[in-house]
Amino acid sequence: MCGIVGAVSQRNIVPILVEGLKRLEYRGYDSCGVAVHQDGALRRARSTSRVAELQQQADQDGIAAGTGIAHTRWATHGAPAVHNAHPHFSTGPGADTQAVGRIALVHNGIIENHDELRAELKARGYVFHSQTDTEVIAHLVDHLYSGDLLDAVQQALPRLKGAYAVAVFCRDEPHRVVAAREGSPLVLGVGQTDGENFVASDAMALAGVTDQIVYLEEGDVVDLQPGRYWISRLDTATGRYAAVTREVKTVHAHSGAAELGPYRHYMQKEIFEQPTAIANTLEAITGISPELFGDGAYRVFKEIDKVLILACGTSYYSGSTAKYWLESIAKIPTSVEIASEYRYRDSVPDPKTLVVTISQSGETADTIAALKHARSLGMPHTLTICNVATSAMVRECELAYITRAGVEIGVASTKAFTTQLVGLFLLTLALAQTRGHLTEAQEAEHLKDLRHLPVAVQAVLALEPQVIAWSEEFARKENALFLARGLHYPIAMEGALKLKEITYIHAEAYAAGELKHGPLALVTAEMPVVTVAPNDTLLEKLKSNMQEVRARGGQLYVFADGDTAIESEAGLHVIRMPEHYGALSPILHVVPLQLLAYHTACARGTDVDKPRNLAKSVTVE
Ligand code: G6P
Repeated sequence: MCGIVGAVSQRNIVPILVEGLKRLEYRGYDSCGVAVHQDGALRRARSTSRVAELQQQADQDGIAAGTGIAHTRWATHGAPAVHNAHPHFSTGPGADTQAVGRIALVHNGIIENHDELRAELKARGYVFHSQTDTEVIAHLVDHLYSGDLLDAVQQALPRLKGAYAVAVFCRDEPHRVVAAREGSPLVLGVGQTDGENFVASDAMALAGVTDQIVYLEEGDVVDLQPGRYWISRLDTATGRYAAVTREVKTVHAHSGAAELGPYRHYMQKEIFEQPTAIANTLEAITGISPELFGDGAYRVFKEIDKVLILACGTSYYSGSTAKYWLESIAKIPTSVEIASEYRYRDSVPDPKTLVVTISQSGETADTIAALKHARSLGMPHTLTICNVATSAMVRECELAYITRAGVEIGVASTKAFTTQLVGLFLLTLALAQTRGHLTEAQEAEHLKDLRHLPVAVQAVLALEPQVIAWSEEFARKENALFLARGLHYPIAMEGALKLKEITYIHAEAYAAGELKHGPLALVTAEMPVVTVAPNDTLLEKLKSNMQEVRARGGQLYVFADGDTAIESEAGLHVIRMPEHYGALSPILHVVPLQLLAYHTACARGTDVDKPRNLAKSVTVE
């Protein structure tokens, strides 16, 4: 993953680079660094602390200049340690120190042939100072350098196998940064003052600096100098690099630097923003029609006769919930696949499939690759439910529904999930309508329920004090089971994911009917069993499953609807949801599970917004 920022400017660029890194921390945060061209030499600061401390370190070391690159890391090759943090330097063969350098480089992605390149470069006398795959690129560029950085980078790139975005500069060319992308995102920011130019993994890193953005394409190489930039790519017919023109777009990227307000963490703030996020996502909806998903959606919806959903993490669970809606309301066969599995397995493609990707960020590498894989198998119709309108996912898909959750900063996804569910419910209704399964009266009823959702979620949020009382019990446990049936089974999975992500408690979810086929063996008085118990047609079955837990001394923590006859007693704890909400009930029932994970994490004192080993946006496979 990782985040990159680079600049050529007349002014001291370090504060802008560091501010950019702060906004890219969602891509990884286990270490960070910045390097500049200063007084004829390469200088850098690197740290395993958070980006906020990097500026202080740079100030202490007097690091300030107009040409520089910076990086925030999510470790793939080599532990999160200062010597593995980027920027990496190369000082030529035989140099056994990295203290001074000729080439400085940052990288996002994975170089698959790094072993082979390392062996070759070692044979040429290069000494390695890190365990990263990145350092091979720095030495390779150094080896190929003979006075022209662009030329060296252009020669190096065809030698790399894997996915990357890189930015590099050279001691001998003080006012130049060269950057390239192949498989990892990179934008060019055309500066608005003094001819300065930028590169970054995401336009958000440059918010407030420039809104003139070029989305570089796979294979693009960009040469940045003051007052000019030049984009080229390899012409496979001639084997030479040729200039290409790319459109400059005005992008109003949100800085993401949202205020915490009265909240302790962004996750808590985002849980409480859900009524607004849902209302915003529904704002423009006056009725159901395929065109909500883009021009030409009616034709596409008429052509397809099944749905394939591809996603990762929390987005996979919103897709899993939508499968129940799509099959019961729109009567359309639906399969849901984990993107990283789908892309590598043999499947039976059907051109009459609507391929739906779900992604908060729109940049998840596995989901993008799964989408491309589906298309390469001959399924041309693609639609995304995505929270970032400018993302690669939206650009790649034929149709889109943009959720309006706003920037989500907490790594554990909350408001993105519930707004995805809203988007997926609208998709269900639009497909039902196209297929003749939605009467006007049903449409009106569903729209009424959707519009009431923000108020209904607000009422669920008022349960927070009761959930806090439970969280104190959970904080002392190391394991938890989550049970549900039907439409709420994916909600139990999402609840278990939330708990493990931020509290590090081992949590697993089961369809309650599966209890007796294995997990019941785990149930003791030490095992809290969270049960999602809406008042639906499966409630009586679920109650039998709960009895199986009670009979083994398990502790049940039940989220029951107001009108459900389940009473608290020894070993059976009940929180009542304000109202039963029919098909949309999953959107309400996930909220107390988010709160339970959040408050348990607070009680355990974990880093809620930046849990260990995780990142917000996973841009490597
Ligand atoms: C990471 C995040 C999760 C997210 C998943 C998929 O693992 O930590 O919160 O659900 O990626 O991300 P996407 O942006 O595609 O929804």
